[in-house]
Amino acid sequence: MSVQLKGRDFLTLKDFTAEEIEYFLKLSADLKDKKKKGIPMDVLRGKNIVLIFEKTSTRTRCSFEVAAFDLGMGVTYLDPSVSQIGKKESIADTARVLSRMYDGIEYRGYGQSIVEELAKCSDVPVWNGLTNEYHPTQMLADLLTIQEQLGRLKGVKLTYMGDARYNMGNSLMIACAKMGMHFTACAPKRYFPDEALIKQCEEYAKESGATLRFTEDVEEGTKDVDVIYTDVWVSMGEPDNVWVERIKDLTPYRVTMDVMKNAGENAIFLHCLPSYHDHKTTIGKQIGEKYGLSELEVTDEVFESSYSRVFDEAENRMHTIKAMMAATLGAFENE
Ligand code: CP
Ligand code: NVA
Repeated sequence: MSVQLKGRDFLTLKDFTAEEIEYFLKLSADLKDKKKKGIPMDVLRGKNIVLIFEKTSTRTRCSFEVAAFDLGMGVTYLDPSVSQIGKKESIADTARVLSRMYDGIEYRGYGQSIVEELAKCSDVPVWNGLTNEYHPTQMLADLLTIQEQLGRLKGVKLTYMGDARYNMGNSLMIACAKMGMHFTACAPKRYFPDEALIKQCEEYAKESGATLRFTEDVEEGTKDVDVIYTDVWVSMGEPDNVWVERIKDLTPYRVTMDVMKNAGENAIFLHCLPSYHDHKTTIGKQIGEKYGLSELEVTDEVFESSYSRVFDEAENRMHTIKAMMAATLGAFENE
C-alpha cells in the first residue's frame, strides 16, 4: 500500500487523496467485519487518547470512545467546563502539554483555525471531531454507508438540501469532488458554499470526474439522484435568533416524500443526526410549537421510511473513526 497515514492529522478531507480516502474506507469495512465476527483488534494496547469537546455530542464522542476501547486504548474526555483550554491556557500550550501525555488528540469546537493551531503545536495526530467549517469523520461514515448501500461511490448523485455553507455542506462537497461523485447543493443562493471552496472543489472534480451543481429549484435539484442528504437548519453555536429566517428560507427545502419520490425508487436518505423530525426533543418541541411546525428539515414519514439509512450511517461513525485512528497511529504500518 503506497499510502502513508501514520502520524498524519485528520482535519479536513481536503488534505487527503482519493486513494487515501479509499484506504480508510477499506480498513473501516475490514474492522467492521472483524467486530461483527467478534475478532479482537486491540492492536493499540498501551496507547492513550484525549477527546476535547467544546460542543455537545452523542455519536462522535461515543464513536471515539468505543473505537479506542476496541483498539485497546485508554481515553480521557474533556468538556469545556473542566478544562483550561482557551480560558486560562492557550491552544498552543494545551497542545504541547497533551502531546507529552497522549498518542492522539480529538477536538470538537468552533473555528477550523483552532484545530489547525492545535495540530501545528502538537507532536501527535490531531483529529477534527467537527468545527464550524468541516466534519471530516462524518464524511468517512457517509462514504462507507453510500458504498455499502449503493455498491459504489464513483458516479453517485448526491443532493444536499439546507444550509450548504456550513460544516456538512462544505464537507459533502469536498468528499463528492474527491471521490468522483455528482454533488448538488439545493438551497437558496445565499446558503451556497463559499466561492473559494467551490473553486478548490472544481479542481478536485477535474481530476476525479465529479460534477458540482448549485440550484434553488427543488424539483430539478433532486430529480433522479441517488442520495438525498440534509442536516439541522441551525447548527451548534449559532444564536437562537437565526431560527426565524432559517425556517422561512429553508422550509421549501425540507425533505418530504415528494422529494424522495422525485429522486427515484432506489434513492436513499441520509442525515448526520441529530435530527428534528418530530416533537420528541426539547428544542424540536419548542421550535415546532413556536412556529407551528410538526417537523423541520425532514418529515417524520421520510425519517422512518425505507428510504432512510440514518442508523446504518450512525453505526458507521464508530467503524470509520476506528480505522482513521488506527491508520494515523500506525497500527498496521508493517502489514
Ligand atoms: N453526527 C454527529 O456528529 O453527531 P453528534 O453531534 O452526536 O456527535
Ligand atoms: N451542522 C451541525 C452538524 C451536527 C453533526 C452542527 O454543526 O451542529
